[in-house]
Amino acid sequence: MRTILFLLLLAIALGLPLAGTAVAQPQAVAIDAAVDQTAVIPPAQTHYMGREIAQTMHFTGAPWLVRESRQREEDCRTMLRALGVKPGQTVCDMGCGNGFYTLQLARLVGPRGLVYAVDIQPEMLQMLARNAAEARLANIRPVLGTAIDPRLPAGEIDMMLCVDVYHEFSHPEAMLAKIKESLAPDGQLVLVEFRGEDPAVPIKPLHKMTKAQVRAELEPAGFGMVREFDRLPWQHLLFLGVREAAPARP
Ligand SMILES: C[S@@+](CC[C@H](N)C(=O)[O-])C[C@H]1O[C@@H](n2cnc3c(N)ncnc32)[C@H](O)[C@@H]1O
Repeated sequence: MRTILFLLLLAIALGLPLAGTAVAQPQAVAIDAAVDQTAVIPPAQTHYMGREIAQTMHFTGAPWLVRESRQREEDCRTMLRALGVKPGQTVCDMGCGNGFYTLQLARLVGPRGLVYAVDIQPEMLQMLARNAAEARLANIRPVLGTAIDPRLPAGEIDMMLCVDVYHEFSHPEAMLAKIKESLAPDGQLVLVEFRGEDPAVPIKPLHKMTKAQVRAELEPAGFGMVREFDRLPWQHLLFLGVREAAPARP
């Protein structure tokens, strides 16, 4: 009896798992950070088609993305429902930040589906990878992108979700071309942007977009509006499909 007690105490002291009490550790989620360091990235644009481009939200501001009031202010649950994500789909959370939406998308696509989570800030991806591991979600692929290349496979993405991201692209034309390449046949680009037409939305104008501006920028890039969901408190929810590029508006 004494020997058993001694062995038990020894096992506890050494941190060894006891029979029936072993707790599975969260599996680390690997980040694909194999960016081509030799690729030349042109200087960041400050304006695009008459719009001033917003600065990238710094990773130190990440707590704002998971603030307690976000559900009330943005009605994230309704937004996710309106997306109509299906089990087994391949989705990309472009500009995923610390993964507030990535984790929820991973649950929606389920174990047969996949979520690519792309960001240009490795620190954001590290937070996301930790959160994904803690949530024990194995269907998330964090990818470090660059300002001109999200480094996604061609023709695979059923839904490319950009929540509060498009207006930050410093090279919109290059990003839109790559996004188009990565979409599956019938794949859609979904933009969630704070409404620029609505002065009641308490967000700086630089971080808002009007529907007209979205159309003016996206149509020449070969995207056309497929569906508009107008029932979010602060944001546009716009679904775009690949179309023949329309000429830029004067
Ligand atoms: C305002 S945050 C939104 C984060 C997340 N979508 C959310 O709603 O919780 C914008 C994110 O977009 C990322 N971003 C900006 N330009 C990007 C680009 N060209 N490719 C990928 N991510 C980008 C930023 O690093 C930042 O994490």
